[in-house]
Amino acid sequence: MAALPFVLLLLALPPAIALSLEIHYYRYSCPRAEIIVKRVVEKHFQQDPSVPAGLLRLHFHDCFVRGCDASVLVDSTPGNVAEKESPPNLTLRTFDVIDDIKAELEKECSGVVSCADILALATRDAVALSGGAAYALPTGRRDGTISRAADVQLPSPSSSVETAEADFRSINLDLVDLTTLLGAHGVGFCHCSLVTTRLYNYQGTGLSDPTMDPAMLASLKQKCPPEVVLPSNITRDTRIFLNQATSKPFFLDTSFYQGLFGEKAVLELDQGLAFTDVTSKLAARYVRRPKRFVHQFSKSMIKLGYVGVLTGEDGEIRLDCRKVNNGTQTTLS
Ligand code: HEM
Repeated sequence: MAALPFVLLLLALPPAIALSLEIHYYRYSCPRAEIIVKRVVEKHFQQDPSVPAGLLRLHFHDCFVRGCDASVLVDSTPGNVAEKESPPNLTLRTFDVIDDIKAELEKECSGVVSCADILALATRDAVALSGGAAYALPTGRRDGTISRAADVQLPSPSSSVETAEADFRSINLDLVDLTTLLGAHGVGFCHCSLVTTRLYNYQGTGLSDPTMDPAMLASLKQKCPPEVVLPSNITRDTRIFLNQATSKPFFLDTSFYQGLFGEKAVLELDQGLAFTDVTSKLAARYVRRPKRFVHQFSKSMIKLGYVGVLTGEDGEIRLDCRKVNNGTQTTLS
């Protein structure tokens, strides 16, 4: 990605935040860090083209809760139920990709590269492999020492655009960021149980959501029966593609936005983008000018990567992304 967009982004951020991270933070301490991250992501991508989708969601869920501090990667311990055990996080995946990268980086330069940076960089590389841009990502994040399931409050897939906008504002992202980052739903999977209400009992009516393309509705009903799946069983639930408007469900392009105008969004929130003035205009602009989407997606991802970062003496550099270094978790916030 050219330097200019990055400079523009920095100008848009408050100076103290913009300066907290830097491009190629590891250039002296671990010069091959970014090359190693990229190589491992590519290896996994070759085996499974859905890996980028998994990483994108993992990074978002990390940043939304306690900031981009890799708290989502920590395993539970006997005294602590970690973020990854909370219901919306039970379907997160690609933890193995992060483990592999960390193992390689520990061989190269032990105790130097944070898990939070690994996740942010791996996601950047995943975006590029899926059709997005390889944006210049500022690094220097440190890892948190707290990960609690009880802290996990994520936006709901059935919320209105207004509510999701307020959720995003709470982490300093705006409506443009929301509309653009939801474009990530152009790739990857959704479990049936998250759409059964829309398919069979929308707002308690006993009917389907009227804002669904009839052909898509019929097809999704075939794949997703009206069963109730307990959250604890969700990983065994059937998966459908999040983007029903494409034949390339792992390619990050503007077909997601095109689909909104044909009422082909799987999630209610996503479909809502077509019914709100500002968001529908932006979606239409992305359909007309796909390069604008790629450009703004990079900017919004960089901005997401700044949310609540720990720098300087805060936090730590974990040796194992699944465990905080002292083996227990601090319960102080
Ligand atoms: C208002 C915000 C958001 C809501 C309510 C939301 C909701 C969801 C839901 C319900 C799923 C399906 C999960 C499953 O069944 O496994 C999903 C998947 C996904 N989300 Fe989001 N999401 C939001 C924002 C984002 C953002 C900001 C990104 C990335 C920048 C993102 C990237 C993804 C991806 C790539 C998937 C597919 C994951 C996979 O294939 O494993 N989402 N999201």
